[in-house]
Amino acid sequence: MNVYEAIMTRRSTRRFQKRMPDEETIMKIVEAGRYAPSGGNSQTSRFFIIRDKEVLDQLAGMAKDAFAKMEVTESMYPSLVSSITRSKSGAYRFHYDAPVLIVLANKKDYGNNIADCACALENMMILANEMDLGSCWINQLKWLSEDAGLLAYFQSMGLGEDERIYGALALGYADSESGLPERKALPRKGNPVVMIG
Ligand SMILES: Cc1cc2nc3c(=O)[nH]c(=O)nc-3n(C[C@H](O)[C@H](O)[C@H](O)COP(=O)(O)O)c2cc1C
Repeated sequence: MNVYEAIMTRRSTRRFQKRMPDEETIMKIVEAGRYAPSGGNSQTSRFFIIRDKEVLDQLAGMAKDAFAKMEVTESMYPSLVSSITRSKSGAYRFHYDAPVLIVLANKKDYGNNIADCACALENMMILANEMDLGSCWINQLKWLSEDAGLLAYFQSMGLGEDERIYGALALGYADSESGLPERKALPRKGNPVVMIG
């Protein structure tokens, strides 16, 4: 698969096998994230590679509890509404029980914090597809980036006082018949193009 094919066939995976990808594969994908461009070549993204099931369960529980305490408002982002509603009504696993969650943090006062993390996430998603792994951008920890409990928990794992979480990636083998990620290249309905000249 060349880069163009990997980009065009990348689709989000939300059902994962329990099987853990080997460390070499995970590290190769993380390296693709670390080699993403960064504003002013700042290279300030921090990558937490979470494979420990207990830690993942703890994070899922903390996120669910935090969302369950929130109230839905009228103009709220629909995905956030869904996280809150599902958390209030019971079991909510924001990371789809993927065996690996790669959480990206960056300096909170750096203007390109989200952009740099987004570049790293996209690089990782494209390489994951090329390596037959499924992945999905996970935004819930960003929405909860100021939650005191989660902040303290990540600080205990190495998050700097001056850092916050800006995104995450669920990663693993797709729970599909073939074991491969969904690769349907759906036609674009949005993202208009303006050609000048
Ligand atoms: C900034 C951003 C945040 C996203 N957050 C989530 C998320 O929290 N959970 C999720 O399941 N998918 C999330 N996604 C994945 C999108 O829903 C998905 O990319 C989109 O529906 C298009 O589908 P595709 O990735 O299969 O092409 C996110 C994607 C982006 C770019």
